Amino acid sequence: MANKIVLLGAKGMLGTEVRALYADQNISAFDLPEFDISDEKQLSAAIDNADVVINCAAFTDVEKAESQYELAYKVNAEAVENLAKIAAEKNIYVIHISTDFVFDGKKNSPYEETDVPKPINAYGRSKLEGEILLMENHQNCAVIRVQWTYGKNGNNFISKLISFSKQRDSLKVVDDQFGSPTWTQEAARVIRIFAENKYRGLYHYAASDYASRYEVAKFAFEKLKLKTEIIPCKSDEFKSAAARPANSRFYCDKIQSLLDKPIEIWQKPLERFLETI
Ligand SMILES: NC(=O)c1ccc[n+]([C@@H]2O[C@H](COP(=O)([O-])OP(=O)(O)OC[C@H]3O[C@@H](n4cnc5c(N)ncnc54)[C@H](OP(=O)(O)O)[C@@H]3O)[C@@H](O)[C@H]2O)c1
Repeated sequence: MANKIVLLGAKGMLGTEVRALYADQNISAFDLPEFDISDEKQLSAAIDNADVVINCAAFTDVEKAESQYELAYKVNAEAVENLAKIAAEKNIYVIHISTDFVFDGKKNSPYEETDVPKPINAYGRSKLEGEILLMENHQNCAVIRVQWTYGKNGNNFISKLISFSKQRDSLKVVDDQFGSPTWTQEAARVIRIFAENKYRGLYHYAASDYASRYEVAKFAFEKLKLKTEIIPCKSDEFKSAAARPANSRFYCDKIQSLLDKPIEIWQKPLERFLETI
């Protein structure tokens, strides 16, 4: 019999792609405003008969998390602890999504799963707590950290660039933050492989190779034939409440060994994504 899958955060950027991938199957999907993951009763009822829970729900506003840490912690950590405890009791397999923001970005090479996290902002701290509380309370789970994700249904670096390009002749983009832009459609495919095989543990997933945000912007604008000039600048030229890691690169060999095909270099999926918009 097919696994009964419950998706939390189904209307978000990644959740939408996971839901689309399961369009032909009967999955139960939950999100705000009807469903609040931090309401223990609602959470318990939502996952009651599940075989697999995919948790894409999160407080993802990195800037607001600085001033609304209590709420970020409630959603990204406390609710995940509750999820872990309920799932442990019912032996439900959980896939939980986390982030490169658990690291400080000071490493000079890609981050591995064995590297010690050290978040430099409130969002990263709340997400790290969520990972720890999940894994402390439940063994039958996987935590997949993703980074620099983009997709059609969400506010992300690529969508922001495109929207700014409509209002400006030139755009400053930082050239001192490095990562691998990762399409949520590709991440959703990986999540489905995990749901089917119930792999356990902590994994890093990102597109292959890496670039600075400036290089990514140049690539996207060239492909879209946008005339807006892209000017390189440094992170400290932008005022923001939350610090961002300079290095978001992931070493993905551990997850690659479980996948059915090689992870593509970031330009290929990004090109396909840009063709869809
Ligand atoms: N975007 C990135 O670059 C990035 C990078 C690394 C990791 N991640 C991780 O990827 C996962 C998916 O994020 P995403 O990019 O899809 O972000 P997203 O678009 O903000 O999706 C998160 C979803 O969770 C919902 N949510 C927030 N609070 C909730 C609550 N109390 N109860 C139920 N649902 C709630 C949000 O609803 P509202 O929109 O109504 O708040 C939204 O639909 C998260 O774990 C995130 O930390 C994202």
